[in-house]
Amino acid sequence: MMNITYDEKNKIFHLCNEKISYVIGVLPNGHLGHFYFGKKLYGNLTEEMFIRRQYKSLTNYIGGYENLSLNTELCEYPTFGTTDLREPALMTKSENGSIITNFEFVDYDINKGKSNSDSLPHTFANNDQALTLDITLMDKTLSVKLVHTYTVFKNTNVVVRKTKMLNNGSPISITKIMSMSMDLSSNYSDWVQLSGDWARERHMVKRILDHGITKIESKAGSSGAIHNPGVVLTTPNTDESTGEAIGVNLVYSGNFEISAERDQNDVLRVMAGINQFMFDWTLMKGESFETPEVVLAYSKEGLNDLSHTYHTFFRHHLIHPKWINERKPILINNWEATYFDFDEYKIIEIAQKAKEVGIDLFVLDDGWFGNRNNDKEALGDWAVNKEKIPNGIDGLCKRINEIGLDFGIWIEPEMVSENSNLYRKHPDYIIGEPGRPSSKGRHQLMLDFSRPIVVDEIFNQLIQTFDGVNIRYIKWDMNRTITEPFSIGLSKTSQGEFYHRYILGVYDLYRRLSNRYPNILFESCSAGGNRFDAGMLFFAPQTWTSDNTDAVERLKIQYGTSLFYPLYSMGSHISDIPNHQTYRNTTYKFRNDVAMFGTYGFELDLNRLSDEEIKSTIEYVEQFKLKQQLIHNGRFYRIESPFTGNTTAWSVVNEDQTECLVGFYQVLARPNQGIQRLQLKGLDDSRLYEVKSSLYNGTVSGSYLMNHGIIFTPSSNGYSINRQTVGDFQSYLIHVNAK
Ligand code: DGJ
Repeated sequence: MMNITYDEKNKIFHLCNEKISYVIGVLPNGHLGHFYFGKKLYGNLTEEMFIRRQYKSLTNYIGGYENLSLNTELCEYPTFGTTDLREPALMTKSENGSIITNFEFVDYDINKGKSNSDSLPHTFANNDQALTLDITLMDKTLSVKLVHTYTVFKNTNVVVRKTKMLNNGSPISITKIMSMSMDLSSNYSDWVQLSGDWARERHMVKRILDHGITKIESKAGSSGAIHNPGVVLTTPNTDESTGEAIGVNLVYSGNFEISAERDQNDVLRVMAGINQFMFDWTLMKGESFETPEVVLAYSKEGLNDLSHTYHTFFRHHLIHPKWINERKPILINNWEATYFDFDEYKIIEIAQKAKEVGIDLFVLDDGWFGNRNNDKEALGDWAVNKEKIPNGIDGLCKRINEIGLDFGIWIEPEMVSENSNLYRKHPDYIIGEPGRPSSKGRHQLMLDFSRPIVVDEIFNQLIQTFDGVNIRYIKWDMNRTITEPFSIGLSKTSQGEFYHRYILGVYDLYRRLSNRYPNILFESCSAGGNRFDAGMLFFAPQTWTSDNTDAVERLKIQYGTSLFYPLYSMGSHISDIPNHQTYRNTTYKFRNDVAMFGTYGFELDLNRLSDEEIKSTIEYVEQFKLKQQLIHNGRFYRIESPFTGNTTAWSVVNEDQTECLVGFYQVLARPNQGIQRLQLKGLDDSRLYEVKSSLYNGTVSGSYLMNHGIIFTPSSNGYSINRQTVGDFQSYLIHVNAK
């Protein structure tokens, strides 16, 4: 069970559940110390079990405590101004210009359940599922309080943290306020981050955490594809199945930073939160500021186990339960089928074919509104283009519904084109500094969502077009990053609030649309996966993983994304060949077998497929429907990494280990290949399983499948094409069912 205790004598907070412990000490000077985060600890805990203080030359100490220097302590949320010269988690500036703070422990509170922010996305839990600790500290000189909040949940290796500052004194500006920080004395030597760019998002990158600061961040206004707002700290021998790992994942979609400082004593200070770059938030007397949440997870059983913890946690405590309990629709999107070149007739043709193959929902992508015939115009004008869709959105939706499909639609609400009615009427609605040109991205300008009036304008336009229409899905796109960060809605002393206020505006519109249309499933998108984060998942249970739909590239993108995010949340579609991003020709089966491990859908004109391909499509859709429950709710395992070899493998296993589906992919054909064994994961050693696949058919034990594994030797043999048994882009679905 969950428990939170405060041992007054030893001044130790102990948060725990069935699996983990998180231990915080109140140091002799009233600051907080980070003592432990890991597997559950039993018994009494005392300070000397975690800290051995000794006098060190060249170290400043706090008056009255000769051996106490914050520079050598294991701190929980370091501030600046006493003896700690490492990276602080909080920086402020007082009216007199001082940056010194000194927050000392005042009291604490323990409550059932979890408290949530009104403006930020957040995890949730009811009173039986979680316990929350608030620790209050105070800087008496400033009359400012800090409240650190920790939530521990039933039976999961997760602690959620956030921090709030409350000002009861003179105005103060916050120039840095992290969601979490902790000093780790243990053996964490590396971290895994998810980095890349457009069309190659979330590739797994391992970095050694050496002396000095290792950092990832975004200054783009959104979390971004360059670095995802999450890292996993690992010990030297951690791999997918063994070793310790701590995950740090921010529930935030704006500018972020995550850093790890290896200090002079080899301690690792890890912190995460809103990027301090340009951040400057003024708190007047009586005001408060709350950070985004951060989800910390722990595993002693390697990366797969850590990922599983995140997947399950996000599905139960972040994504709205409505979507978890419903079967997600298999959708077809017309973007790569038509781009801007469509009319109602073409759309209906695609939808009719989609119905024939068993698809559930049709998505009308970019180009349906205003005068939008290319990417240079009409963003900001959210009324339907009657030349393309004469019967309006309602008419088209009804027609699609008659065909037997649900209807979904694309929007890009944060943007405006220069050639648009909105821009002509309100050139003042864009982000930028008057007198300086604002640069464009994909020919478009960005609306200043830090201003409520701008968010209102878009909300009103959208509801005018969507009210009363049976829309079941919205794809919310965002195709550029912020440059020239300046808002005319903010004073010269408040420009440092711009980036955070921008993302609060985005969240506000998401909240208002979701409240108005509770039956609409949102898919977030940002030129593909440029804003794939837990903040977005709170509002939009799925994200378009990447604009890159090439199945070979998707192996890496989906594999990397799975470090934190469940298959359930990854938009994955079968697209045409040659692929529109890489011009590669992969087999239809290969494309299907990759897309299956995600939300699953189509991004092509089915009318251009051959009869044989249509036959396969019907089978594929049927197969996915049969496996959808397993794929979206099962436990995902990464087995072979696309980052290290020519083959990739992953699998999903159901909770009672009776059903498993493996995806196995060989990218390039190899001549006269040696023997490879595919060792499965997560099965029951002693059970017998029936294996069905083109690699192997038969009944074998779980222990055989996991320890010996299925033999794999398909190779391209000999010099003659007639002897070639397999070509490039081979994929195998292996169905494993308990007897
Ligand atoms: C970028 C998205 O990622 C694509 O799927 C598509 O919706 C285009 N934008 C439309 O402009």
